[in-house]
Amino acid sequence: DVQRSLVLVKPDGVRRGLSGEILRRIEAKGYTLAAVELRQATPEILAAHYAEHEGKPFYEPLVEFMLSGPVLAVVIEGQRCIEGFRSLAGATDPTVAAPGTIRGDLGRDWGLAVQQNLVHGSDSEESAAREIGIWFSGLG
Ligand code: CMP
Repeated sequence: DVQRSLVLVKPDGVRRGLSGEILRRIEAKGYTLAAVELRQATPEILAAHYAEHEGKPFYEPLVEFMLSGPVLAVVIEGQRCIEGFRSLAGATDPTVAAPGTIRGDLGRDWGLAVQQNLVHGSDSEESAAREIGIWFSGLG
């Protein structure tokens, strides 16, 4: 199945100048960039995007981190790209993410309240449709 997935280069990735490297890995894998936009998130966008994490201990610091600078919002396209991008991204915790992955090669623990783990990728077709609609209204 050709899928679309919503990928975010989080504020740590943009700040560190890794947007190009991350897009390069997505394109080198063979996925297409269907939309790319540098955006400042808003509390409303993040409340929708992270609705499932509301109430968790890391929720407030997560929202604060995601508001700390612009994010690169990206829609990628390709066969099984949802699973494929999560494989490219690596485990949530960059300390243990496998070498070869975005988080494993480029990320580490900075001792902060939230895992600053460079990227987000949708975890299912349902989340992808929902998240693309949040970040790119009209594209969902
Ligand atoms: P993401 O895939 O964007 O979804 C939720 C985010 O919360 C996750 O990436 C991390 O940035 C962060 N996160 C998830 N679990 C934890 C945790 N246990 N402690 C701190 N931050 C977390």
